[in-house]
Amino acid sequence: MMRFEGWGRIVCGVVLLGAGLGQMAGAQATLTIDAAKPVAKVSPTLYGLMTEEINYSYEGGLYGELVRNRTFRSDWSGVDGWISTPYGSARGSAALDKTTGPSAAIPTSLKINVEQADANNAFALRNGGWWGVAVRANSTYTGSVYAKGDAAASLHVSLISNQTGKVLATTALPTVSGEWKQLSFSMKTGSDVKSSADNSIVLSVEHPGTLWIQQVSVFPPTYKDRANGNRPDLMEMMAEMHPAFLRMPGGNYLEGDTIKERFDWKKTIGPLVDRPGHRSPWNYQSTDGLGLLEFLNWCEDLKIQPVLAVYAGYSLKGEHVTAGPDLQPYVQDALDEIEYATGDVSTKWGAERAKDGHPAAFPLTYVEIGNEDWFDKSKSYDSRYTQFYKAIKAKYPQLQLISTANERGNEVKSVTPDLIDDHFYKRAEEFFADTHHYDKTDRKGPKIFVGEWATREGEPTTNFGAALGDAAWMTGMERNSDVVVIASYAPLFVNVNPQGMQWASNLIGYNALNSYGSPSYYAQVMFAKYLGTEVPTSELKGAGNKLFYSVTEDKAKGVIYLKLVNGSSTAQGLSISLDGVNAVKGSAKLVRLSAPTTAATNTISDPKRVVPVESTVTGVAKNFKRTVPGYSIDVLEIGIQ
Ligand code: AHR
Repeated sequence: MMRFEGWGRIVCGVVLLGAGLGQMAGAQATLTIDAAKPVAKVSPTLYGLMTEEINYSYEGGLYGELVRNRTFRSDWSGVDGWISTPYGSARGSAALDKTTGPSAAIPTSLKINVEQADANNAFALRNGGWWGVAVRANSTYTGSVYAKGDAAASLHVSLISNQTGKVLATTALPTVSGEWKQLSFSMKTGSDVKSSADNSIVLSVEHPGTLWIQQVSVFPPTYKDRANGNRPDLMEMMAEMHPAFLRMPGGNYLEGDTIKERFDWKKTIGPLVDRPGHRSPWNYQSTDGLGLLEFLNWCEDLKIQPVLAVYAGYSLKGEHVTAGPDLQPYVQDALDEIEYATGDVSTKWGAERAKDGHPAAFPLTYVEIGNEDWFDKSKSYDSRYTQFYKAIKAKYPQLQLISTANERGNEVKSVTPDLIDDHFYKRAEEFFADTHHYDKTDRKGPKIFVGEWATREGEPTTNFGAALGDAAWMTGMERNSDVVVIASYAPLFVNVNPQGMQWASNLIGYNALNSYGSPSYYAQVMFAKYLGTEVPTSELKGAGNKLFYSVTEDKAKGVIYLKLVNGSSTAQGLSISLDGVNAVKGSAKLVRLSAPTTAATNTISDPKRVVPVESTVTGVAKNFKRTVPGYSIDVLEIGIQ
């Protein structure tokens, strides 16, 4: 049992004023908290995740596939990413063949014609991966190749060091035959392999002959050993963010540039060979290996819910589908998609999900209809939303339906959306000035989903100044989380290779081998990890205009989480009084993110420059003093009784 002796008095007689003692504190401000008088409930789903196929977030990022352009189609000329590399006296050629492929969805292939080759002089094709191929010791690499052709010209697959030419793992594939067949393999690296991304995947042929190959896939070990799964480091980083949901599949990625290029979920399920893939509006091809079921599995692995965005008949370049009969097939697609996620196995699409390997239904609370429909110049959103709303509510009355139009334009009037999705991309100073954005929002109207937001300072990942803007903004969302019930920073991921980024300002950066969190990432982790269940009454007086705070309490745990954000370079003195509690524990946990300048940041080569530091603060009491250092984000976990 916890003991509370000594609480409510200054235990060691010294109030630690925290770091920043060297700075001049501004005039003393006062913060009064009355823990006995809650003013709002904190939404348990406040913090979540939002990504899409942007910045090589999935392919070349989270999705474990090591082979780039595994279906020979990413640059429209067919063989981008692949180099023919004959060894010694080997001779041959490789070219796209549009006349044969392993499936209707993938009707093309790479034809390899080997004129001369033997065991010491193989004809080979090299794939350099996504700016490298990460290879680690004692690891099993699994995959498959679809192939047909001359049996003699069977294939080997290897992982080879670019620097030394050393074979790090290799295996012979089953014999090729005259029919298209999926040839699966597995190969393991030895204990002497040094972790590196300076490697290639090499397919080689040791006999003359002709063969056709397609969908060349190599996976490293994945998170929770999921087949066709995700990179463990990135999944672990997301788990650390304590998210409650994943907004999926995007963003612009849901809409596509055109209707044809939308996220057409039915083409993203089932065997990989039956997925044609499609172009992301961020200008590269997706194989849709990370399709609808993989998104749902990702949620399951992180123990979070999907916020499922359904295509609503509007695409980025302005094409739209008129509400009425023309829109009906898209509405039906959305109903089918919800059934695929949530239906039991007796339903058509629930049975399809079971066939795809997941008989259990997924939980679902929120469905979002479209994305950023305030941009729709046709003004058709009200009628499109209403058609979706009525059909979905008729079948799934329990679902909460999100509108993507807001006060920026095209607000829905014909029905009342359950939630409205607001997006904010701002500078830190703009967020500092807008932390009261939701203070006056009508509590009787729709709830708010802040579906995309970020302070856009620093690239490819944001800097400490951005983290300050983010933290200030989060204090406002927490204070108003009775109405702001879900929120997700965007975008989450960027491949930091020079050609990898389409959107500057992202939360997590990575290359083929390593990953790191931006200061903004750590601010997110701190805010989501230390979050109470209620917002108590509080008032701040006399502080500078760049001091922001949030206070939430969790009575069951007996804690108050006090977050203090100082966006100025000047320290701020603060007298804190905690009313409405019987006792206060004399020592508190302090988690601090701070940096000497707003430009301070983390990078792939210096990933831990700005990270949270934990310490214990003594002298905490019903009335105590703190100095909030300049440029700092503090979370105090205070025990109460
Ligand atoms: O997050 C990047 C993009 O910003 C999203 O795809 C889009 O919804 C928004 O405009």
